Amino acid sequence: MRIAVLTSGGDSAGMNAAVRAVVKTGILKGCEVYVVREGYEGLVRGNTEWAEAEGQRVNTSATESVKQEVEINQYQAGSDNVNLLENLRFGDGELLKDGTSEFVGGRTLKGRYIVRVGWDDVRGWFSQGGTLIGTARSMTFKTVEGRRAAAHNLVKEGIDALVVCGGDGSLTGADVFRREWPDLLSNLYETSLITEEQLKKHGHLKIVGLVGSIDNDMSMTDLTIGAPTALHRICEAIDNINSTAYSHSRAFVVEVMGRDCGWLAVLAGVAGGADFVFIPERPPQVPWEDAMCAEIHRHREVGKRKTIVLVAEGAQDADLNPIKAEYVKQVLSERLGLDTRVTTLGHTQRGGRPCALDRILPTLQGVEAVNALLESDESTPSYMIGLHENKIVRVPLMEAVEQTRAVTRAVKAKDYDKALELRGSEFKE
Ligand code: F6P
Repeated sequence: MRIAVLTSGGDSAGMNAAVRAVVKTGILKGCEVYVVREGYEGLVRGNTEWAEAEGQRVNTSATESVKQEVEINQYQAGSDNVNLLENLRFGDGELLKDGTSEFVGGRTLKGRYIVRVGWDDVRGWFSQGGTLIGTARSMTFKTVEGRRAAAHNLVKEGIDALVVCGGDGSLTGADVFRREWPDLLSNLYETSLITEEQLKKHGHLKIVGLVGSIDNDMSMTDLTIGAPTALHRICEAIDNINSTAYSHSRAFVVEVMGRDCGWLAVLAGVAGGADFVFIPERPPQVPWEDAMCAEIHRHREVGKRKTIVLVAEGAQDADLNPIKAEYVKQVLSERLGLDTRVTTLGHTQRGGRPCALDRILPTLQGVEAVNALLESDESTPSYMIGLHENKIVRVPLMEAVEQTRAVTRAVKAKDYDKALELRGSEFKE
């Protein structure tokens, strides 16, 4: 089997450990393993790019006019036990010296995107932060044409199985791709881009999802890869803030990530000893200012010298108005006379070395992803690898995606209990 693995969406600590586990397990089980650089964007671009002219914008759409085909062939597949990427370092431009390029997301992307890897290529990756194979929020993959180009590239490389490590958006993309696969292939065959033999051989694409996200917002899994590390970072930051807050007897309003999910904020509040926490799933009744001030005043009355208020970035009130850190600061300053500062932790929460759990979890899940691919056939669903009551589990990808969407619908309908129940790890066996 030829397996490709990619990371997609916002990076998270532990993604490298997941890729490493997929690569090593795949090789141990006799598969050829490939990495796709730059997420779905790399899948769309593949290893052959069509350029109108060198130095000009690359046309990656399979339907636009093809003027010049630039074949990139610097790579010779060797034994699995060598470093196949030796001369193909990831990074800016070294991969393809004479190729064409396009500026995407502030970087110049060049050359080969689907690269076979060997055992040594992923040595030590479990301790590295971010994702070494790159990630992107691909707009092209959101179009049918983009997915068609991606399907074509996979068939051209002879790849029949895909592991996607990303958040809910990326796994939704994987689910769409899986469902469309037969139509995409028929279309490629009808337009003579693939042969009848390729059509028959690649009639079914095996996909497995690994959930990489700091937000811990995916349904049907207790934990997402990267969430424990981000939580730890936030706790460290609060510890640091605590000492300076104590010294000056100040209040700090700390904004934390999590998109529409309050998991990071709630648990950081518990672990860091916050006085008040705002999360999207438990919006306070308007006006909430009185309740917050009463609580913090009470804490000060019993002798607390410092105040920490956590605001999840997606926090809102019961009328669905966003709750912003600057406004909370204004309320604390004006009503309680507290000397207040705002700290937005931003991407310090997402970057850096993974904690132990974010090495262990993705390693076990990466192994399970390969096992799931090897054991699945056309009759089995695509799986997402999750964690349920401390056990690594396979759950149907389609159901997990659908349940996660239902959370968003429940929040919009202000049915917060339902949202939390759906966000939990409840799933049908
Ligand atoms: O989904 C992960 C996450 O870090 C969210 O918590 C945050 O809202 C978002 O990504 C930030 O995205 P970007 O890095 O593109 O600004």
